[in-house]
Amino acid sequence: MSNPIDELLASSISTGGLSQAQTEQILKFRLFGNPQGFLLLPDMPIGDIPATPVSREALCKTDDRSERLLLQATALLGEPIGYVQESNGGIVNNFFPHQTQSRTATSDSFDTELDLHTENAFHAIQPDYLVLLCLRQDPAAEAITYVASIERILERLSYEQQAFLLNEPYNFFSDYSATEKNQRIDINKHQTVLYGDPNAPFFRFDPQFMVAYSDRAQRTLDALHGIAWDVVEPVRLSCGDLLIIDNRRTAHARSPFTARFDGTDRWMQRAFATCNLRFYTEKLGRQSRIFELVTEL
Ligand SMILES: [Fe+2]
Repeated sequence: MSNPIDELLASSISTGGLSQAQTEQILKFRLFGNPQGFLLLPDMPIGDIPATPVSREALCKTDDRSERLLLQATALLGEPIGYVQESNGGIVNNFFPHQTQSRTATSDSFDTELDLHTENAFHAIQPDYLVLLCLRQDPAAEAITYVASIERILERLSYEQQAFLLNEPYNFFSDYSATEKNQRIDINKHQTVLYGDPNAPFFRFDPQFMVAYSDRAQRTLDALHGIAWDVVEPVRLSCGDLLIIDNRRTAHARSPFTARFDGTDRWMQRAFATCNLRFYTEKLGRQSRIFELVTEL
């Protein structure tokens, strides 16, 4: 096994650190789901965590227990995948504040995590699950992750609104760009917000990157946006907390938080799982875990 990703995956499966009971919880979540659309496993073994780096170049982590835990959980949910546009195609993405980024969202420094969204809603290969592992909480414990599940949202949508969202296409913009982050690029991706089984629909939502075609479509989107924020469940992640989010049945967001750039900042790791890798391989005619932008299959 010469591929470093495959080597890490293989060691994750045998030495990821999940207990039998935790493995059972994850498999139950995958098979049956739950109304809130996420699963939280607190206080997991993540090994030695060095000071939080202040730049990608400074990232140096020798103990790989957190990566193995993250990938073991991810592999129970589906196939671990990555995107060329995120962390250069790494299968484990690291998130910590960068000195070049603003601490709060303003019109000129837009943080895409601040509003509720489904991950990669514009991408034909959407992750089915996000797996987030908190290596370090922010020192002031301000950061809150919010999850809004479609099951909770549907309770507050009228039948007419549900039928509309199952049928009305919105234009989903991409934020992928070779040069800059947070672009809004029209990739001609027109799709409905609700899809799949009308009685238990999947959900994709990214209001900052969606364009409505009519007043009614905009009004319905605004109503949905408000309802999604009304039903969010807040989660305050601390060191060792593993959060699994069903990306086809929820939208998520994160509050702003303060950065100090002194090694004590918030540090998260993230991985994606897909349940359809063989289908994508068939459609694309190419086998890979790492994807470029795919608009149609
Ligand atoms: Fe996100």
